Amino acid sequence: SVLEMEVEQINKGHYEHYMQKEIYEQPESLTTTMRGRLIRGGLSKSKTVLLGGLKDHLKTIRRSRRIVFIGCGTSYNAALAARPILEELTGIPVTMEIASDLLDRQGPIYREDTAVFVSQSGETADTLLALRYAADNGALCVGITNTVGSAIARNTHCGVHINAGVEIGVASTKAYTSQIVVMAMLALAIGGDTISNQARREAIIDGLFDLPNKAGEVLKLDEEMKDLAKLLMSEQSLLLFGRGYNYATALEGALKVKEVSLTHSEGILAGEMKHGPLALVDENLPIIVLATRDACFSKQQSVIQQLHARKGRLIVMCSKGDATLVSPGESCRVIEVPPVEDCLQPVINIIPLQLLAYHLTVLKGLNVDQPRNLAKSVTTL
Ligand code: G6P
Repeated sequence: SVLEMEVEQINKGHYEHYMQKEIYEQPESLTTTMRGRLIRGGLSKSKTVLLGGLKDHLKTIRRSRRIVFIGCGTSYNAALAARPILEELTGIPVTMEIASDLLDRQGPIYREDTAVFVSQSGETADTLLALRYAADNGALCVGITNTVGSAIARNTHCGVHINAGVEIGVASTKAYTSQIVVMAMLALAIGGDTISNQARREAIIDGLFDLPNKAGEVLKLDEEMKDLAKLLMSEQSLLLFGRGYNYATALEGALKVKEVSLTHSEGILAGEMKHGPLALVDENLPIIVLATRDACFSKQQSVIQQLHARKGRLIVMCSKGDATLVSPGESCRVIEVPPVEDCLQPVINIIPLQLLAYHLTVLKGLNVDQPRNLAKSVTTL
């Protein structure tokens, strides 16, 4: 109806699509996600994290034998992005489960497990069923959702709301970055203060405070990503190579591209390159390599060299200032992003890829907010 159309226009503000609006909202959504939860300063000049919904359960979580993340789609990818920092700060083994796969296998879940359910909507059928399953098996169940009062929020023992604001575009964008931030805060909360990790904790907390600014900065790549989208518009396929903190970025970037632009796209763990993917490399297939600074940087540099030696059509994402260091030759395109603390870099790195997926879709004249065959919330099996 005309009324519905007008309401929609008001909701979208000056943006053309919800996905675009939600990508652009990230400096604010990240701010609201952290509001009241990160504490810096005071007399002791200490830096701490306060997650109200978890405080009565932190002791139990710290004693658990394993943390198992459970989710679907983008929510699973967000957990994957946070996994390394959880392992590092808590020392507890962290495993990953796609909700449907856990159910298919009826995989072992124990009383000593902390099961963390990650879901934007809080209503995804598989995730909800996996929650019943884990609760029946006696695990402590933690919810990370964007929807207050949702089924997952109601049925978990405790949890954290991501507070990213309503997300309407079927492809999740701002919820993804806020989920990673919540899980980084979760890692800080479970990890607790020790002398040995103090500097690292402080660097992460400072990095979190600065993240909205950095998200604003990386959004300036919009035109550049639009140009790249023009270049890639008629491609059949796109690969993304990542590892470490940014393996998840490769998977999530590929998911964005395929779900909205209907282009085949695959995220590849760079460490597996020689076990198959290398056979696909030629002078036609475009490949995005994620090579921002972290402990895996030199390994990624060697991946770039090897892809280049196979004449790969490379687009490299690197930290600002590293363009000449990562670029194997004239023909290589480089996307320079602002550096942040390594474990938070996935929050920044996904933003240009969200923009790329958005522009590819709009240029192709496809429906970016409601891609064919997909639903925002999959509540049926
Ligand atoms: C659908 C949506 C995705 C979302 C996934 C999981 O596939 O299109 O954007 O990531 O469900 O949804 P949830 O609400 O559980 O995060």
